[in-house]
Amino acid sequence: MSLPLSIYIHWPFCKSKCPYCDFFKKVQKNVPQDNIVDFYLKELDYYHRLLPDRIIRSVFLGGGTPSLITPDNIHRLLEHIFTLWKTEANIEISLEANPNSEYPDMFRQLRRAGINRLSLGIQALNDADLRFLGRTHNLKQALHSIDEVLKNFDNHSIDLIYARPKQSLSDWMNELEQASGFGFKHLSLYQLTIEEGTVFYKKNVQVLDEDAAADMYLYTVDYLQKHGYPRYEISNFAPARYESVHNKCYWLGDDYIGIGESAHGRLKINGRFYAIDNLPGDLTHSMRRHKEILTPQERAEELVIMGLRLQQGIDKKYFKTVSGLNFDDFINQKAAANLESQGLIINNSEYLAATDAGFLVLNHIIAQLCR
Ligand SMILES: C[S@@+](CC[C@H](N)C(=O)[O-])C[C@H]1O[C@@H](n2cnc3c(N)ncnc32)[C@H](O)[C@@H]1O
Ligand code: SF4
Repeated sequence: MSLPLSIYIHWPFCKSKCPYCDFFKKVQKNVPQDNIVDFYLKELDYYHRLLPDRIIRSVFLGGGTPSLITPDNIHRLLEHIFTLWKTEANIEISLEANPNSEYPDMFRQLRRAGINRLSLGIQALNDADLRFLGRTHNLKQALHSIDEVLKNFDNHSIDLIYARPKQSLSDWMNELEQASGFGFKHLSLYQLTIEEGTVFYKKNVQVLDEDAAADMYLYTVDYLQKHGYPRYEISNFAPARYESVHNKCYWLGDDYIGIGESAHGRLKINGRFYAIDNLPGDLTHSMRRHKEILTPQERAEELVIMGLRLQQGIDKKYFKTVSGLNFDDFINQKAAANLESQGLIINNSEYLAATDAGFLVLNHIIAQLCR
């Protein structure tokens, strides 16, 4: 039986650097876009030689700012994938877009180029906060792009960052009501984190205190549950049929390849686990890859870290299929019993999942289970 495979394509270029962002990105004039895409096609060839019989389940163009790639080049990438591999009938092809349109009719053209799920990085719904977040779009442009995405796509999502330093709970309540009222199929809502090396870090920007941020999170989960967006992952909300197929591949432990500088992949080939990290380098000629073989235990630990982010938690049978290890033998049973008695997890013969209280202390749960 052919195994499914997901493809992540990283486009590292941005128009400017947002002060909170620690994703791998570059601001560069005269990007040799056609040459980079030529090289990405060769990268796809490389993976096809390695995995000729896989069936492609999802493609995700992420960044950076992949909405800077021309529709022609997006089309070239997708056509190449379709020429190389078979695809699942309902393959999900997502692109992460910034609201600033690069050319007239951008969203219509992205749809025509083959994108069938658009994820829009709005981040905030008022001008003061958009400025604070260093975004190059204002509210008017955000609202216009929202209209365009809803008009041109059937499957769509928005990203917002909340728990901003001066945001009150009632500010966020209003913004959440607005965000969930647009009609998107999926919402990704992230609490602001201050990452080392970012401008916010250097300026010593302080995040909201933990209790205030937790109140916002609990309100968000409850409000969205009542408004048709159940939480299915710690920061992602959607009815089951609109959950992100691509991101679920990471959370469930399925195979994916990464194209482009700083992208990474996880593959299981003949029972061996491979972690592949693309190193920074020349984007038009060669890709230096760091390849590592993971032990089943190392892969299993990743599955716990990723799987507990899901509302459904970790399916013990699936865990065994992917890692080859028995879940109950792998985790620390004493810690699991403690966490269960504290009401932080549900642990039965089929699955182990965080409770509502557990989602507030997920890192603690993971550390305990993997002790
Ligand atoms: C790859 S990033 C950005 C995609 C796209 N270039 C944009 O700016 O909208 C994906 C998402 O991560 C979130 N994100 C990035 N840095 C963050 C941070 N420090 N705190 C919280 N969320 C963050 C943002 O919501 C962002 O849309
Ligand atoms: S948030 Fe998006 S646009 Fe801003 S620097 Fe990061 S990847 Fe680029």
